[in-house]
Amino acid sequence: MKFPLSIFTKKPSPTEKPDFSNMWGEPETIRWVNNEIPYCIIDNYYTPEELKLIWEELDFLCYDSRKKHLDYLTQKEKLKPPSETGSASVGEGSHERILKNNSALNLDGVYADRDVSNILQINQRVIKEFHETLAPESPNWFFKNGHKTIHLDVTLLSYYEDGGYYEPHVDSAVYTIFSWFHKEPKRYTGGDLVLTDIGDTIEARNNRVVIIPSFAYHEVLPIVMEDEYVGTKQGRWCMAQFLGIPFM
Ligand SMILES: [Fe+2]
Repeated sequence: MKFPLSIFTKKPSPTEKPDFSNMWGEPETIRWVNNEIPYCIIDNYYTPEELKLIWEELDFLCYDSRKKHLDYLTQKEKLKPPSETGSASVGEGSHERILKNNSALNLDGVYADRDVSNILQINQRVIKEFHETLAPESPNWFFKNGHKTIHLDVTLLSYYEDGGYYEPHVDSAVYTIFSWFHKEPKRYTGGDLVLTDIGDTIEARNNRVVIIPSFAYHEVLPIVMEDEYVGTKQGRWCMAQFLGIPFM
């Protein structure tokens, strides 16, 4: 995807990291994998209060009340098809083929003011922590040093239903931060992230954050849902934050 050049990372919020002592007992865990392609996995990242606010917005963006109650409005989904969300593709012209099957929204295109969005406020915490602690304390040179070039972020929110996938591709950024969410209990299988070149598979867990170099080929394995859950919005949510430099 291409960056809208007018969107720049705001100064990090002065808010301190929330107190995790009230979590359900599952502490945040950070794991770095310092392989040929380095990456970071953080489990139980968002606090219950953050998750509550995030889900309020996900439910709003996903549930289209107009379809059920207001016949006179056009029946449009809020989430967009791949052709409208800057999807990776292969081939050109009539041979072009989009590599993903999901629905998505470029949140920075939806909200001119980030303060209106729960998600766009909450997701600045991971960027702040990325700069202040995660990257500087990384065992990997690329993360330890490269984060200093980052002054821009955009957020793409994606939802994968039964049959959803994303074939191997790279993102047009320096780092990609994924945050994954789903309703509990989990009603789908598949949806794991694979780092294509090294074959590492990262399970799609709820409340898991994964940070990868954007230009590492990655893919999302196909989602499979039992018939009774298809269309009930119990699939896989992915919030992708693309971190880059202003002149990209
Ligand atoms: Fe991607």
